[in-house]
Amino acid sequence: MKEELLNLAKQRRSIYALGKTVDFDKNELTALIKEAMKAAPSAFNSQTTRAIIAFGDSHDQVWEIVRKALRDVVKDDNAFAQTSAKIDTFKVAFATVLYFTDMDVVHNLEKQFPSYADNFYDWSEQAMGNANFAVWTALAENGLGANLQHYNPLIDDAIHLAFDVPASWRLRAEMPFGSVEAPAGEKEFMDDADRFKVAD
Ligand SMILES: Cc1cc2nc3c(=O)[nH]c(=O)nc-3n(C[C@H](O)[C@H](O)[C@H](O)COP(=O)(O)O)c2cc1C
Repeated sequence: MKEELLNLAKQRRSIYALGKTVDFDKNELTALIKEAMKAAPSAFNSQTTRAIIAFGDSHDQVWEIVRKALRDVVKDDNAFAQTSAKIDTFKVAFATVLYFTDMDVVHNLEKQFPSYADNFYDWSEQAMGNANFAVWTALAENGLGANLQHYNPLIDDAIHLAFDVPASWRLRAEMPFGSVEAPAGEKEFMDDADRFKVAD
């Protein structure tokens, strides 16, 4: 059997030691991320996922927004110093993808298809997972590392203000990416017998 996709999927890991040594330019990376997101499926082909791809000063701004939001909630100075050092590990990356769900699309579908109404938000989250995985794997295929962060909803208002984000876009994840400065560790897996059943 062909295992190209499987090998790429295994290549995708959470990389926490990221850097700025990236040979691709902004346009190439933007095109890759766009295509990966467009190839990812969504319920009813509703295409609920949105993204802002932040490079340069905009990337820095994302992580300064995170730092400021956390300064407001982490009162202890020592704890904040640790938090701030962690934020630096994201800021030293090359760029960040901010992922959003367009809630207008979700609410319109809820109205249009009342019998499925309860499903549309869940489906938008599943579409988000598909989009995250597609972009993360496409970056990995090109030798770039990424990880997935969730400082939303703490940073939502500041992100909306800073990047003129449409009101209906709900922030769901932040993905810093860049060069791989250190590989991921071993990944542990639960027992297949507890996870899979084969029915004949
Ligand atoms: C939906 C989802 C949410 C995640 N949230 C975070 C997060 O907030 N912070 C983080 O460091 N990693 C986060 N991760 C990364 C997981 O911890 C990681 O994917 C998992 O431990 C498996 O490791 P791997 O990515 O190297 O395969 C998230 C992953 C997924 C799929």
